[in-house]
Amino acid sequence: MTGIDLLRRHGLFDAKVPRYTSYPPANHFDRDVGAQFQQQWMADVPADQPVSVYIHIPFCRRLCWFCACRTQGTTTIRPVEAYVDYLRDEIAAACRNLPQGLTMGRLHLGGGTPTILPPAVMTRLLDAVEGAFDRTHDFEFSVEIDPTEAAPDLLRLLIARGMNRASIGVQDFAPVVQAAIGRPQSLAQTQTVIDILRDAGLPSLNIDLLYGLPHQTSDSFGRTLDHVLALSPDRLAIYGYAHVPWMSKRQVLIKDADLPDAMARFGLAMQAQDVLTGRGYRAIGIDHFARPTDTLAKADAAGLLRRNFQGYTDDQSATLLGFGASAISAFGQGFVQNAVATSAWQVRVTRDGMSGQKGYVLRPQDQVVAQIIADLMCRFTFDPDALARRFPDQARLIATAGSMLRDRFGPLFDAPGNAMTLQGDARPLVRIIAQHVDGFVGVSGGYSAAI
Ligand SMILES: C[S@@+](CC[C@H](N)C(=O)[O-])C[C@H]1O[C@@H](n2cnc3c(N)ncnc32)[C@H](O)[C@@H]1O
Ligand code: SF4
Repeated sequence: MTGIDLLRRHGLFDAKVPRYTSYPPANHFDRDVGAQFQQQWMADVPADQPVSVYIHIPFCRRLCWFCACRTQGTTTIRPVEAYVDYLRDEIAAACRNLPQGLTMGRLHLGGGTPTILPPAVMTRLLDAVEGAFDRTHDFEFSVEIDPTEAAPDLLRLLIARGMNRASIGVQDFAPVVQAAIGRPQSLAQTQTVIDILRDAGLPSLNIDLLYGLPHQTSDSFGRTLDHVLALSPDRLAIYGYAHVPWMSKRQVLIKDADLPDAMARFGLAMQAQDVLTGRGYRAIGIDHFARPTDTLAKADAAGLLRRNFQGYTDDQSATLLGFGASAISAFGQGFVQNAVATSAWQVRVTRDGMSGQKGYVLRPQDQVVAQIIADLMCRFTFDPDALARRFPDQARLIATAGSMLRDRFGPLFDAPGNAMTLQGDARPLVRIIAQHVDGFVGVSGGYSAAI
């Protein structure tokens, strides 16, 4: 059987599966787990361990048709200014619940478009965050940047306030693709923003690309990859375009007929992998690439890669505090997602301080499944001995997962000892394999394509 036939037989070109940025995925969160849990779990955060902070800015001046992120269009800055006032209130409320003197190892501003904030408003937001948490010595501060919405004075302010990684959205440079996804963005515009950032001393640059976009061909994607390599990013995230118009209404503007089929998507993903690894980038997990000197590549080499809501990370913190509409907090005990609609989030912040609306309490068996899925997604391994050391009470579950993996997928793994490692050619199947493990606790459909 050829490699392609094997991937087809296991459903790569048909399956709809979660991306497993969390376990369980957010669509399994429950409305019974809201602000009260958030409040209690905040009080229980270990005072001596750094937390990570995520702040969601759900505003964009343009609304790209392909985008599945939680955001809303705005033509004026007034709702954005008001939103930041609520964020300051939410952070203050969290501080009343959290232990005193917590340190922050990571701060990520995501969206939407965080760079829509004018400098004075960004300053108010960062003052609130820094008033709440002291930075650790190895603090990392990253921001998602749309190069068409990035004023030079704001970029310089972010660097002056310690931003050490910029994540630039590119998606694709081909004009025909950009027209079909409603996202015009020239190479020159992108280059200018990167030059400003580098001149101001930015240490690390990430670029986001997508494969599987309308009208994308191997030739056009090859040219985009060449342009992107010339921008010399330290990291790249190359996600498969998730076409989910039933969830993200804007995507109805993208015609199904213009999308590459599953085989063509797979070809584009492999093309990106070949080009980038050929240029010295390390392939990380299913969709990231990094220079060997980058901290993500080093964490991968050391077996320390983790998964969070942005994809892969080297962040080792046990607590992620999410602020803003739809932001998710992760605690040792489980997850809480803030009210998703901006208006509902504002009502909750005003009323209760805490805005958690739904979440999930991790049961002991969920913790094991979460670790098995993290090991598969981050390291392509299943190591029953390591799992048994970590979860001594869960021997039956670990053994059952091992039997299922060996019975269903055994030939895809190298298994010199007890531990199993997914062979390189079979790695595109990892989300499908993870979903089979997930089947122990039951997960339903509604996801994006497996490739
Ligand atoms: C919040 S968005 C972009 C940040 C910034 N507003 C920009 O436009 O550059 C973060 C990333 O999510 C990814 N993304 C958005 N919609 C997606 C989709 N439908 N499928 C896969 N990835 C998507 C894109 O790669 C995008 O760069
Ligand atoms: S890709 Fe960025 S700018 Fe475009 S709609 Fe999504 S968040 Fe807004």
